[in-house]
Amino acid sequence: MQETTSSYPVDEDFDPLSEDYLEDPYAYYAQFRRDAPVFFAPKIGMWVVSRYEDILVIVKDPETFSNAKVQEPLQELEPEAAERLQEGVRVTPTTSNADPPKHRRTRRHAQMAFSAKRVQKLEPRVREIAEGLIDGFLDEGRVDFVERFAFPLPAMTVFSFIGFPEEDTEYLKSLCFDRLRLTWGRPPAEEQKPTADKMSDLLAYVEDFVRGRADDLRDDYTSDLLRIREEDEDALSLEEVTSIIYSLTFAGHETTTNLIANGLRQLLTRREAWDELREDPDLIENAVEEMLRFDTSVPAWRRMATRPVEISGVEVPEEARLLLLLASANRDEEQFDEPDVFDIQRENAGKHLAFSQGIHYCLGAPLARLEARTAFELLTARMPDLRLAPEDQTIEFEPNISFRGPKELWVEWTSDQTAQQTSP
Ligand code: HEM
Repeated sequence: MQETTSSYPVDEDFDPLSEDYLEDPYAYYAQFRRDAPVFFAPKIGMWVVSRYEDILVIVKDPETFSNAKVQEPLQELEPEAAERLQEGVRVTPTTSNADPPKHRRTRRHAQMAFSAKRVQKLEPRVREIAEGLIDGFLDEGRVDFVERFAFPLPAMTVFSFIGFPEEDTEYLKSLCFDRLRLTWGRPPAEEQKPTADKMSDLLAYVEDFVRGRADDLRDDYTSDLLRIREEDEDALSLEEVTSIIYSLTFAGHETTTNLIANGLRQLLTRREAWDELREDPDLIENAVEEMLRFDTSVPAWRRMATRPVEISGVEVPEEARLLLLLASANRDEEQFDEPDVFDIQRENAGKHLAFSQGIHYCLGAPLARLEARTAFELLTARMPDLRLAPEDQTIEFEPNISFRGPKELWVEWTSDQTAQQTSP
């Protein structure tokens, strides 16, 4: 941390896209919380906030801390890509980047349709998808777990939840790939336009889908939103329904991929935790909370100050962009005993801020939990000797400020075939 002549702490070097930080952001947090819980980072033009209590106050005060800019690209995009986004991906704010009173209205309906019953109903489908994926590679003995399980499971689940036709899955998956870099990273100029094109194609697909569903209601989340509209046209516009669905194709996808991959990595690097879950599947529910606390898939989220405000003694100006280090809050020693220990039996694991708090609390938390629980139940039962292969493999992370999970995670196990080949 470098003190400058300014009256607030500044860290000229801090860059959340640097290789060191991407590899292990946790190495930085304790020092941040202790020495400079709020500092300005010129490399990203943001104020970085790292303590649990400060972050909790911020997310619970939407008047002072706006969500309106949470989805702005981190860097200025090259003109063609910027134009493509401007023309092709114009989505009215409904949840994540809406502020009250608009947020109150749209979130109420989005949440009503996201009922416990609707999520519960999806359980057999999540199980079926996960079983099918495992069946698809069980004989192989070694796979990239991200490609074969952690990526397709949440994708197929959220597409099913929304009601997209199953035959479009591959097309949709191709449109959803790699897009987080455009908003939360610094992709090179040549990658920007193709990604913006894909986002525009996805929005066009969602618009068509929602229009079609409006005349053909079924048993899915989109139809439930449209039913609310049928009863009261002013409750939600067609454009708002489209926006909610479009946002779920993103929010409901990479977040959960990364949770499952991070969680598996933590379990397999601590064999005793994996074995405990195998022996006592009742521990899985709490283990998922500990995965969310210890190695969350959304380590940072944004806000913008709507007025000058003091945070941990630091005066932050109006329109300041804040980077809230949720992952640091989850390791705050004021909240968690031995925060850097991964303990699947931790009593207050669920106190984490992985899903945030307040009015923007993650809408999909019950679905993410259901997917992770189901995944670990099946993996521990069906692949008991699953292990990292090699154990010390180099893990790479997508360079961006908000989403964290391994790009690839190679695992192996003794398959029937391998057992036959190696048996005398
Ligand atoms: C492990 C998985 C997930 C994590 C860690 C996660 C985390 C988050 C976080 C940190 C926020 C921001 C809250 C804020 O602005 O204060 C959020 C918002 C949101 N999430 Fe999730 N999420 C996950 C999975 C999902 C899933 C599966 C869905 C939907 C299917 C979803 C839908 C949403 C939506 C719609 C919002 C915006 C809510 C609002 O602003 O009212 N998320 N999530």
